[in-house]
Amino acid sequence: MADKKNNPAEVKDTGHVWDGIRELDNPCPRWWLNSLWLSGVVVVVYFILYPSLPLINGSTKGLLGWTQINEYKEALAEVEVIRAPFEDALAAMSVEEILADQKMLNYAIGSSKVLFGDNCAACHGTGGAPAQNAGYPNLTDDDWLYGGDINEIEMSIAKGRAGTMPAHSKLLNATEVDQLVKFVVNSSNGTATEAGKALYAAKGCFACHGADAKGVKMMGSANLTDRIWRFSGTEEEVRYTILHGVNDGSDSKTRVAVMPAWSEKRAVILELTAEAIEDDEDPSEIDWDDELEGDESERLTEIEIKKLAVYVHQFGGGQ
Ligand code: HEC
Ligand code: HEC
Repeated sequence: MADKKNNPAEVKDTGHVWDGIRELDNPCPRWWLNSLWLSGVVVVVYFILYPSLPLINGSTKGLLGWTQINEYKEALAEVEVIRAPFEDALAAMSVEEILADQKMLNYAIGSSKVLFGDNCAACHGTGGAPAQNAGYPNLTDDDWLYGGDINEIEMSIAKGRAGTMPAHSKLLNATEVDQLVKFVVNSSNGTATEAGKALYAAKGCFACHGADAKGVKMMGSANLTDRIWRFSGTEEEVRYTILHGVNDGSDSKTRVAVMPAWSEKRAVILELTAEAIEDDEDPSEIDWDDELEGDESERLTEIEIKKLAVYVHQFGGGQ
C-alpha cells in the first residue's frame, strides 16, 4: 500500500503553514479511533453498573449495588470465618492451656500485636520496653513486680495494679534517710552492710520489701537487690522514692504508678475460680450471673485479656 502520509504532495493540508512547515490533514489511525469509541462505551457501561452520577443526596447507586463499605465488610466477613473457630476455642481455654497449645499460642500472639499497640504501648512502649525513666515497668525483662507466671500476668492486666509505699519524709531523720539510700544502692551491687540491714529492718522496710529485700509479689514491692530499677538507681532518685513514697495520696510529690484495670469481670472470675480450687470446690458450680451482676466493667474482653497475657508472657521475661 502506497503510504500517502509519506508523500506530502498527495495529502490534503489544512492550509496552515509555519516557517515553511505545512500542517497535513491525515485521518486519525483506525486503532486510535476504535479505542476512543470503546472507552466511551466503557464509561457508559460503568455509569450504569456502578455508583457514579452525584445527586443532591448521595449518588446514583448502579445496577451492581457495589459500595466500598460492602466490599470491606465482605473482606472482613471472610477473615471472621477464619478467626471464629480460634476465638471460640480461646473463650473456653485458660491462659495455661493456650501456652501449651502451639497453634492457639501462635494465633493469640498474632492477634495481640494490634491490641498491645492500641492499649498498652503508650505506657509500656512498643514491644513492652518503655523509654528509660518513663516510670513504667519493662515487660521484657525477667524482673516482675507482681510475678511473671502466666496467671499472675493475666491478673495484672485484668485487675490493674498500683503498688503503694508510704512517704517516709516524716518517719525518718536525715541521717537515717542517708543510710537507707546507701543501703538500697549497696544492695543492688551486693555490698550492703550489716548496719544498713539493721536499719532497713528497724524502719519497717522489710514488711513490704521482704527480709531479703527482694520484694514481695503480693504487694508489687520492688526487688531492691538487683540492678533493675523500677524508677532509677541513682542516689537522688532512690532518696526521692524513700522520702515521697509511691502512690501515697498524703504526699503531693509522691511517685504515681498506676496500671489501669482492663477487665474487672475477668479479675473477679480469676479470683473466685482460684478461691474455689483452694477450698476444694468445683469452680463450674459457681453462679456467675449472680457473682458478676451488673457492676463489672470491661475495657477489654476476656478473650483479649487472655491474648495479651500470653503475648506479654512471650516477650521473653515470662516464667
Ligand atoms: C497508663 C499507663 C499504662 C497502660 C496504658 C498500661 N499499663 Fe501496664 N502498668 C503500668 C504501670 C504504672 C505498672 C506498674 C504498676 C506498679 O508499679 O504498681 C504496670 C504494670 C503492668 C504489669 C505488671 C508488671 C510486673 O512487673 O509485674 C503488666 C503485666 C502490665 N502492666 C501489662 C499491661 C498491658 C498488657 C497493658 C495493655 C492492655 C498495659 N499494661 C497498659 C502502666 C500502664
Ligand atoms: C507499705 C509497703 C512498703 C514499705 C513499708 C516500704 N516500701 Fe519501698 N516500695 C513499696 C512498693 C510497693 C514499691 C514499688 C512501687 C511500684 O513499683 O509501683 C516500692 C519501691 C521502693 C523503691 C524503688 C525501687 C526501684 O526499683 O526503683 C525503693 C528504693 C524503696 N521502695 C525503698 C524502701 C525503703 C528504704 C523502705 C523503708 C524505709 C521502704 N521502701 C518501705 C512498698 C513499700
